[in-house]
Amino acid sequence: MRVAVLGAGYVGATSAAVLAALGHHVTCVERDRSRLAIWRSGNDPLAEPGLTDLLHCVDLQFVGDGAEIATADLVIVAVGTPTGAGGMPDLAQLEDAAAQIGALARTGAVVLIRSTVPVGTCDRLQSGPLRRMRVVSNPEFLREGHALQDALAPDRIVAGGPSDARSIVEHLYRRVIEGRSLPAAIDPRGPVPFLWMSARSAELAKYAANGFLATKLSFVNEIANLAESVGADAGAVLESMGSDPRIGPQHLRPGLGWGGSCFPKDTRALQAIADGAGYDFIVLRAAIDQNTRQLGQFAAAIRRSVIPGGTVGLLGLAFKAGTPDTRESPAIALAHVLVRGGLSVRAFDPAVRALADDRGIEVRATVDEACAGADAVVIATEWPEFAALDLRALRNVTRGDLLFDGRSVISPQAAHAAGLRYIGPSGIEEEPTADVRLRGAA
Ligand code: UGA
Repeated sequence: MRVAVLGAGYVGATSAAVLAALGHHVTCVERDRSRLAIWRSGNDPLAEPGLTDLLHCVDLQFVGDGAEIATADLVIVAVGTPTGAGGMPDLAQLEDAAAQIGALARTGAVVLIRSTVPVGTCDRLQSGPLRRMRVVSNPEFLREGHALQDALAPDRIVAGGPSDARSIVEHLYRRVIEGRSLPAAIDPRGPVPFLWMSARSAELAKYAANGFLATKLSFVNEIANLAESVGADAGAVLESMGSDPRIGPQHLRPGLGWGGSCFPKDTRALQAIADGAGYDFIVLRAAIDQNTRQLGQFAAAIRRSVIPGGTVGLLGLAFKAGTPDTRESPAIALAHVLVRGGLSVRAFDPAVRALADDRGIEVRATVDEACAGADAVVIATEWPEFAALDLRALRNVTRGDLLFDGRSVISPQAAHAAGLRYIGPSGIEEEPTADVRLRGAA
């Protein structure tokens, strides 16, 4: 099939590369000139693992204008929908794309909306600028850092729109649905469920998934906080919960809060959608509030323990491990609170070498440079490098003995054995066991 993809961000570029690998004739349109130049040079401005290797194996054109829309059987819209007024997404880029498609695409072409959009958007486009086409909502469920795995072997494909578009969408994803011909690096999951529904259901399915995962994490953080307060072991409690297949072991790690380009934006939008429908979504509102409180309580614990004017070695700037993305990163939000509170923050992140707007955060090139002479070390991103830190060596370069583990990647026992005081995401200090106290004294 001839496919034109509008937008070369995570979703657009990954979708384009994967569809080209599946044998379709794909062109990807990117308006941002500097981002386009990077794609055209064969590099990946998003640093998504495996994507450049795949791009070198497929025939995929990156272009700056939408002329290809005119000859496409299928147009994929993957433009940004950042938070706008009142928490609702700002649809300016989507409206531009729709106007362009409406003017250029042939009658009957299928338009797949992969951008995350409010419920009812596809219906509105169908009866407006895209009335000659068939508009299908086809949300993505890609995780940054695992985008190729999630695109080639997803848990499900969700799509909804006019019924005569269904077979075309199924044809587009046929090899993914059948779990056929996956590159060696992809973990096969067998046949993939293809869930066809109304456009409104597909639009809500995307928000529902992210809203639920965010709520799960807020609940996990509440349980971990409560465990600290009642003298229970949060790790043991969560391991037990994760063993129940109805709960599952993923997205169960307590932290200083969830962030990124999706959960904060999509939970705000889901809240705004519910408000607009006159529905009081109390669980979601509580999950969002909990996330704000979680970061606040962790920051407050650091500020209580570090002397005014003191220095914090901040490990992590990305919103999660495996990506250089710092959008709505809890690590950066935390750093800003600490800087505003009069602390010096020296940060290291394996994937982030500089910040466009540092607002007082000093970015250093190594863990040692960030932590040398620090009064406290704070782990703010769950990079495996930080889980594997040589804690004794770390203690030798710091001035103070405080370790704030905002991502639950260090065992309190290991921290105590290295002579560090351990404070987890709840902000409550974990006392050493008698065992470690004795070893420390010896
Ligand atoms: C999320 C969803 O997981 C994807 O399914 C979805 O497609 C994507 O949003 C999107 O809407 O495009 P992503 O934003 O890449 O993916 O990140 P996650 O891996 O879900 O992590 C989100 C946040 O939760 C991060 O800040 C991470 O540190 C935090 N997290 C994650 C925890 O605090 N604990 C965990 O156990 C897992």
